[in-house]
Amino acid sequence: MAANKNLLMLPGDGIGPEVCNEVRKVVDWMDKRRAVSFDVKEDLVGGAAFDAHGTPLHDNTLDTAMNCDAVIFGAVGGPQYDKLGWEARPEAGLLALRKEMDLFANLRPAVTFDALLDASTLKPEIVQGLDIMIVRELTAGVYFGEPRGMQTWEGKERCIDTQSYTKDEIVRVAEVAFDLARKRNGKVTSAEKANVMKTGVFWRETVTEVHKNGNEDIELGHMYADNCAMQLVRWPKQFDVIVTDNLFGDILSDCAAMLTGSLGMLPSASLGATDVTGRRKALYEPVHGSAPDIAGEGKANPLAMLLSFAMALRYSFDLGDDADLIEQAAQNLLSQKKRTADISSDGCDILSTGQMGDAVVAELDKLAA
Ligand code: IPM
Ligand code: MG
Repeated sequence: MAANKNLLMLPGDGIGPEVCNEVRKVVDWMDKRRAVSFDVKEDLVGGAAFDAHGTPLHDNTLDTAMNCDAVIFGAVGGPQYDKLGWEARPEAGLLALRKEMDLFANLRPAVTFDALLDASTLKPEIVQGLDIMIVRELTAGVYFGEPRGMQTWEGKERCIDTQSYTKDEIVRVAEVAFDLARKRNGKVTSAEKANVMKTGVFWRETVTEVHKNGNEDIELGHMYADNCAMQLVRWPKQFDVIVTDNLFGDILSDCAAMLTGSLGMLPSASLGATDVTGRRKALYEPVHGSAPDIAGEGKANPLAMLLSFAMALRYSFDLGDDADLIEQAAQNLLSQKKRTADISSDGCDILSTGQMGDAVVAELDKLAA
């Protein structure tokens, strides 16, 4: 079959290359077994790109990313890069991709797997059946606001970052949240600090306006971000979709992730606007990061990366059935107590990264038989 979908794989640093390798196994399986095939290009990003080109994101890489159907991103960063200049640090490569591709909507699901209930630090009854979607604004706010940096102010050194949101930046991410809630449980909680920040007041007013403009079928609640953090560990099942800004989303999504027991299980999707042809730029990455302490040891859990690929199938390629298969395969393996070390418990078979990828493929074979 002719290749029909273009993927750009950016493994990056740390455990990124190991977990991306497992995606290749699933891509190969799909090429053979499903009604779709992929043309996969691979390139460098982050510290790996800096080592090769002196920049964490080469222009050619960005160009390929802008023109492919989906970017599959591993992770960036590592202690060997900690002393690099600001523009050269590996994270700058990821932030530039988000900004240049205008990937404003970051979807971070936090779903608990029954087989992993004991891995959560919270009581099973608090997290069983949990299914939250955090929608984090990803291209504005304090991550990108100007001015920023060192200044002299009243004779003193000071440093500033700027929290800034235009109305349309809030509107478009709120629309994504309402659309998602409509396909889920019909509830959006918007989190900000309207009690302290002017941008918080503006965020709250704007989300309320978007709600009135055609989204009143969805239940909307507002919460201060600090309260939201507290509610996430107190009673997380009150949430369906949470929409929030870039910085609060960074923090709240880590908090929500840990409810499920392991960062090694959580995927994410970063989406741009839909163009006239119905296409949207997209990048899929696991939430876990580069984990330099275990890089190269075959210990990394590839499931977050594989579940991110499943999100690519669902959101970029409208292949929900294929995404379901991968999610089901992951669940079956957890139930069979086949686990990587990060989520193992008594009586588990401990699998290496590669063995887990192979096991997913074997499970896919069974499911699709
Ligand atoms: C994330 C990460 C990034 C962020 C870092 C690596 C720049 O923490 O994706 O949540 O802060 O956005
Ligand atoms: Mg983060």
